[in-house]
Amino acid sequence: MPRRAAPVGQTPPLATVPSGLEIDGTRMPERVLITGGAGFVGSHLADALLARGHRVIAFDNLEPQVHGTTARPAYLSPEVELVRGDVRDTEVLAPLLRSVDVVFHFAALVGVAQSMYDIRRYSEVNALGAATLLQTLVDCRGTVRKLIVASSNTVYGEGAYQCPAHGRVFPGLRPEPQLAARRWEPRCPRCGDELTPLPTDEDKPRQPASVYAITKRDQEELFLNVGQAYGIPSVVLRFFNIYGARQALSNPYTGVANIFCARLLSGQAPLIFEDGHQTRDLVHVSDIVQGCLLAMERPEADYQVLNLGSGQAVRIGRIAELLAERLGWRGPLTTTNTFRVGDVRHCYADLSRSRALLGYRPRVSFEQGVDELIAWVSSQPRHEDRSAQAAAELAARGLAR
Ligand code: UD1
Repeated sequence: MPRRAAPVGQTPPLATVPSGLEIDGTRMPERVLITGGAGFVGSHLADALLARGHRVIAFDNLEPQVHGTTARPAYLSPEVELVRGDVRDTEVLAPLLRSVDVVFHFAALVGVAQSMYDIRRYSEVNALGAATLLQTLVDCRGTVRKLIVASSNTVYGEGAYQCPAHGRVFPGLRPEPQLAARRWEPRCPRCGDELTPLPTDEDKPRQPASVYAITKRDQEELFLNVGQAYGIPSVVLRFFNIYGARQALSNPYTGVANIFCARLLSGQAPLIFEDGHQTRDLVHVSDIVQGCLLAMERPEADYQVLNLGSGQAVRIGRIAELLAERLGWRGPLTTTNTFRVGDVRHCYADLSRSRALLGYRPRVSFEQGVDELIAWVSSQPRHEDRSAQAAAELAARGLAR
């Protein structure tokens, strides 16, 4: 694919802009398309790109479950060009893909639990959406120099574990009889012994355990395969559990920290599944943005699969405790002793590869990031909390039991 000079004259080149293009020793601003750019992660990335002098087009369908009825989220910078459309619509995508240098593909449905009953819609938006974007790209022979896709640690299924007798092991999803007996910790697949969670690296075999995770695996393979075939450097970023300002509070299938905040703000205790000792790698959105910029700027990222997380495991019960304390909740915190089908017990990031190839260094611990989260949720208009409805929906379908 030919490389096009940056639009000199439209935006003055910034000597310090670390982009992929260099003309006469000056790094040039680029045009960046972010699908899902009006969303939580996309909008933060847009701000960081604008601050570096780039131009940003956000392509977004403004999914009502996330955005309600708004025509443009208030947090979206006025400098972002917002194009409303569906990632399965090649007609709208084609002119955009002809005019940009870098594509971040973030548009996706994101609820792991919801994907277990909205199977077709998740497959269409996530897998077919990625395929449509790539089809449009190769048909329109644009000038895109890099493709970056948001994948997820859910493609791993359970994380890596240490068995005292068998070393590093990769258990599958916990078997149904074990979960029915409320024995929550995964066991060694070889000897049944107790295990200790280990950081999970990119070479751990993928064992996607939900429809959502399967669609993320599809996205990974599509981007790497098509990128390689056409010589367009593609990068797969496996995001862990992202939290921070702008994550939709009204969406009952949003991330756990926001769900807990929404419940506490509406005077209800969080619904803590299992026994609350399951862990996740909670990564602040600013660290994800840091990783995205590095992936865009560094050629070392090309054709790589890279974890972006905090590298730390946090107990879900601990998240509830911290948020309850900060939001002044005085009631008891109990666990439901039920589980969501497809949930894994532990998975946190091994960051060796993203450190070595990108120089990625997460800066915000959960304890630090939680204050900013609280400040943001407290400033938001109160929404009716729909997490109980969502939990009831899952239970009615036998997907939480
Ligand atoms: C989340 C993301 C997914 C992303 C993945 C990366 C959302 C909606 N999903 O999925 O897009 O790819 O991280 O890791 O942001 N839990 C409760 N009570 C609740 C809700 C959740 O106890 O009310 C528990 C769950 O059982 C689970 C943990 O919290 O153990 C995390 O759940 P959730 O925030 O939904 O994240 P993931 O399923 O990991």
